[in-house]
Amino acid sequence: MPLASEAPQPGRLITFEGVEGAGKSTQIRRLHERLREAGVETVATREPGGSEGAEILRRILLSGALKPLGARAEAILFAAARIDHIDALIRPALARGHWVLSDRFIDSTRAYQGAAEAVDPRLISALERAALGGLRPDLTLIIDLPAQEGLRRAAARRGAGEGADRFEGEDVSFHEAVRNAFLAIAETDPARCVVIDGTAAEARAADEIWSVVRERLLAGEEAAHGA
Ligand code: TYD
Repeated sequence: MPLASEAPQPGRLITFEGVEGAGKSTQIRRLHERLREAGVETVATREPGGSEGAEILRRILLSGALKPLGARAEAILFAAARIDHIDALIRPALARGHWVLSDRFIDSTRAYQGAAEAVDPRLISALERAALGGLRPDLTLIIDLPAQEGLRRAAARRGAGEGADRFEGEDVSFHEAVRNAFLAIAETDPARCVVIDGTAAEARAADEIWSVVRERLLAGEEAAHGA
């Protein structure tokens, strides 16, 4: 039954995280579709990017041109992209009562720049505060699978002739550090994060995600609207 009602619903921010090739975009598409069927206005977006200014920074960051500047500078630029994304897209959508599904968000900076590249956690926290203010994801879905398997899938998806981007080009131990960082984040913040088995069949992972979303975010609204 559609959840729409006369009063605008508060928007929700759901972020998807995981190693390369974890299947985040597929799961975002599936959740987007299910939310649409449930009558929830939803916007799907991604980081780095999602807004005009942030997409410019995305191209530069993923080209690898800034790698020589070091991980601290890259962390700052990921935060700069996030500021534009939040100001131009996320906050206005949430204010309209729309739900936002973001392919990557703050935990990617924590895992890639913070854990795998050892950027000082104080800088990572300061950047988060600067970019987010009081904004926090309502739910973070961490799609987990071994880094090697994710890299294999990402390479297959890319096809022949196309080179790996800035981070796909790092070795397996880098991506294992990223994976472990995501799992550690989930462990320390279970109220926000849920780990989804990315090795499971696509449809099964989608069902799991849907039941988490219903349980954690829709249940209250369904009850409030007599669904
Ligand atoms: P993308 O092509 O979107 O990769 P994927 O499909 O795996 O999500 O590229 C985003 C890349 O940027 C990915 O390698 C992770 C990296 N990244 C960071 O290092 N820090 C960040 O804060 C964000 C948002 C992404």
